[in-house]
Amino acid sequence: MRFKLAVLPGDGIGPDVIAEAVKVLEAVAGRFGHSFDMSYGPVGGAAIDETGTALPGDVLKMCRRADAVLLGAVGGPKWDDPQAKVRPEDGLLALRKGLGLFANLRPVKAFPVLVDSTNLKPEVIRGVDFIFVRELTGGLYFGRPKRQWRTSRGRRAVDSMVYSEQEIERIVRVGFELARRRKKKLISVDKANVLESSRLWRQVATEVAAEYPDVELEHMLIDACSMRIIQNPRYLDVLVTENTFGDIVTDEASMLAGSMGMLPSASLAGVPREGVKIPGMYEPIHGSAPRRAGLDMANPIATILSVAMMLRYSFALPGEAAAVEAAVDAVLDEGYRTYDIMDEGKTRVGTKEMGNLIAGKVEG
Ligand code: IPM
Ligand code: MG
Repeated sequence: MRFKLAVLPGDGIGPDVIAEAVKVLEAVAGRFGHSFDMSYGPVGGAAIDETGTALPGDVLKMCRRADAVLLGAVGGPKWDDPQAKVRPEDGLLALRKGLGLFANLRPVKAFPVLVDSTNLKPEVIRGVDFIFVRELTGGLYFGRPKRQWRTSRGRRAVDSMVYSEQEIERIVRVGFELARRRKKKLISVDKANVLESSRLWRQVATEVAAEYPDVELEHMLIDACSMRIIQNPRYLDVLVTENTFGDIVTDEASMLAGSMGMLPSASLAGVPREGVKIPGMYEPIHGSAPRRAGLDMANPIATILSVAMMLRYSFALPGEAAAVEAAVDAVLDEGYRTYDIMDEGKTRVGTKEMGNLIAGKVEG
């Protein structure tokens, strides 16, 4: 099969990890007889330097024409001035909105070989395997009004947590669809004891549940959820929540996996269903780590696992996705580690060698 791919390496270690993910994708192409047409474009700080905007119009167009987008990372101290008119993160938000990527999937898995190298007790971490579905194009990130102004009594600012029932319905549906294919348990996370938008969220989630009688729905408050993530993460399977809550708790949850360098993500423009190809954007959950850029240090696994998610959700190639995931497991089992997951008695490798090893396993 033939697929069109937009590749946006971005800033910092973005280009480092993207190069390895592309290697792995080429290995998939070779072994399974697919072809991936890749076009590259700048986003984030790289785009600001080149064009003055964080997402040039022709790059957005290229992404719209593609079957999927592969993104590295954006941002860095160079563009961090709070007074700046344009920020690298604007590029990411414009991509999410411009491509209609309302569903952000963030799987959190404790790799057996890494349970001893996290900051938490191995007996709490072992066997952790859940997935957060984060709403990505609504809530505080995009709600209006959103501004800062001066009054006679000083400065004021407002952000708005706005949700329509349609926005809630489609994201909750993503949660139910995933739950149906896993343990048939969905946790909807909100702050319904305080927030009006959460009360609507809870009502709509309960209404959609009627269409999924095979899935058990539980409501959980966001504060209790963030406690549960540390206290008993094995309790969790599929969770769905709004944009800002999801942003915060997925960073927290990433610590269960040992390193942010291990966690992939998918941002989808539709509800994932078996055998259906959905346009999407795939990126590691970590940032641009500017101090590590170009040093052949960064862990490319999160980006490589993002490629596996792309194969699964945008290309409907579950076998190929599983081959990539198995290759990552095999290389970890053999004891290879980048600096962020290095442990006694293991073999330390750089970004490129890690990519070569995984691509080699995919080739078989
Ligand atoms: C994330 C990031 C982004 C977000 C930033 C870079 C705008 O933290 O993808 O979680 O807040 O969504
Ligand atoms: Mg975040």
